[in-house]
Parts: sequence; structure tokens; C-alpha cells
Amino acid sequence: MTAQLINGKEVSLKIQDRIRKQVAERQTKGLRQPGLAVILVGDDPASAVYVRNKNIACEKVGFASFSHILPASTSEEELLSLVNELNNNPAVDGILVQLPLPKHINGQKVIETIRPDKDVDGFHPYNVGRLAVKMPLLRPCTPKGVMTLLEEYGIEVKGKNVTIVGQSNIVGRPQALEMLMQRGTVTICHTATRDLPAEVNRADIIVAAVGRPNCIKGEWIKEGAVVIDVGINRLENGKLCGDVEFDVAKERAAYITPVPGGVGPMTIATLLENTLQAAQLHDKAA
Ligand code: GUN
Repeated sequence: MTAQLINGKEVSLKIQDRIRKQVAERQTKGLRQPGLAVILVGDDPASAVYVRNKNIACEKVGFASFSHILPASTSEEELLSLVNELNNNPAVDGILVQLPLPKHINGQKVIETIRPDKDVDGFHPYNVGRLAVKMPLLRPCTPKGVMTLLEEYGIEVKGKNVTIVGQSNIVGRPQALEMLMQRGTVTICHTATRDLPAEVNRADIIVAAVGRPNCIKGEWIKEGAVVIDVGINRLENGKLCGDVEFDVAKERAAYITPVPGGVGPMTIATLLENTLQAAQLHDKAA
């Protein structure tokens, strides 16, 4: 079997187009332009690229974008004070603090300072908790983007064995909650998992979110499985690759996401969706 490619780039453009139209409609109704504030602390080059891409995407759909690029020496207090200022700014619907943060800053404290109704990353314990009890409000972007891709391609989760490799707060854990909400039978694998190849081989749907190039071997994939690769790893030759050994996996899977062009573009498209959703929450509250 040769897998059908899941084209995240195409789906993300469709979402962006829909959001652009919704923003234009808001304008004709006299409603505010949704606003997203992005904070970057330090000079991690990959983070700088993401932040730039977020700003470009905001402008494309007609959002107001507020960019705060701070030096690595920024204190936790200064960062918390900026978050509080943005919490109180009515032009800002969404606040995103790019992770990872420098070591001297307590990331969890920063996340918990963001107002839950402006937490467009969905990382605040309030939003994580709502997702856990099947009452989601703002949902983490990458896992939600994965669910959108599955839906777009007509891939049902109900009753399927879903194996998620990786237990991060950003992807693995919220992805498990998303899959469970769709009634998948969910397994989360991590470094203490005893037999990773066997867990992957049982899966009808695999989500790889490890961050190590080609660590999921193609031969582990069950014939006809759906492979979602969240990894974006840069090799020494400058090329990007995922967590899954793509060339082998694609000969066994029914569907597979490429890297780049799979899950990656969905994260930003979903961030835009969440920001529009936050603006709608704030319309109601006004
Ligand atoms: N770093 C890697 N992924 C993400 C994300 O989705 N949001 C934020 N804020 N930082 C990240």
C-alpha cells in the first residue's frame, strides 16, 4: 500500500481563507478586528521564525498583531507585568507566549497569568481542565489542528486504537484528550514505555510528537494505519524531517502527513481560529 498524503498546507489555506471572510464580515457589522499579541523572549532562531510566521498569518487574515520581542535577560517580573498589561488591553483577544522560555523564568507561572479567555494556546490549566471534562473552550492548537485534518480527510477516530508517542503538555497530553473525546482507545507512550514498536504496531492511528528525527521506524507501522507526524526536526544538511521514518512508513500506511506541509501549517491556522473564537467570546462579554 502507498499512503495518501494528508495535505496540511492546503487545509490550512482553506481555514485562513474562511477566517479572512469572517473578519471582513465582522467589519461590515461594525465589530472589532480580532487582535493577537505574541511574546518572544530571547533569540532562539526557530522560535523567531515561528513568531514571524504568526505575524504574517495575522496580517493575511486581517487581525491586528502585536509583537513583543524581548531580550533573554528579561526578568520573570517584567514578563508577568507585560502579560497583565495585555490581559487588560481590550484590543487584544489572544495572548501567546512562545515556548520554551529562558531557564530563569517559570513558564507555568507565566501560562497561569494569562487570562483563560485570552489563552489562545489553550495551555492554561483552566482550558486543559475543560478539555479533560469534555467541555472544551480554547483548545491547544497543534492537537486541535490534527483533529481538523482527520475530519477533513473523513478519518473516523471512534473505536480506533490511537497511539500517541510523546507526553508533552503542548501536544501529547492534549492530543490524548482530543482523541478520547472522539471515543478513540488511547495509549500514550513515553520514555518509560516498555515496548514502543509493539504499541505503535497496534495502532490504527499514530500521532508522533517526540522531536527526534526518524525515531518511529516505518516497519513498526501496521498496514493501513493513519500516520500523523507532529515532529519538525532540522537535520545537519539543513533539511526538515519528521519523527517518523517517512519513506518506509508511506509504503505501509493508508494516510500519512508529510514534513514539512503536514501538521505544521495547521498549528498557525488553528491559532487564528482560536483568536477569532476568543474575539467572539469578548464580543459577548462586552
Ligand atoms: N513552542 C512550540 N510549539 C508551541 C506552541 O504551540 N505555542 C507556544 N506558545 N509555543 C510553542
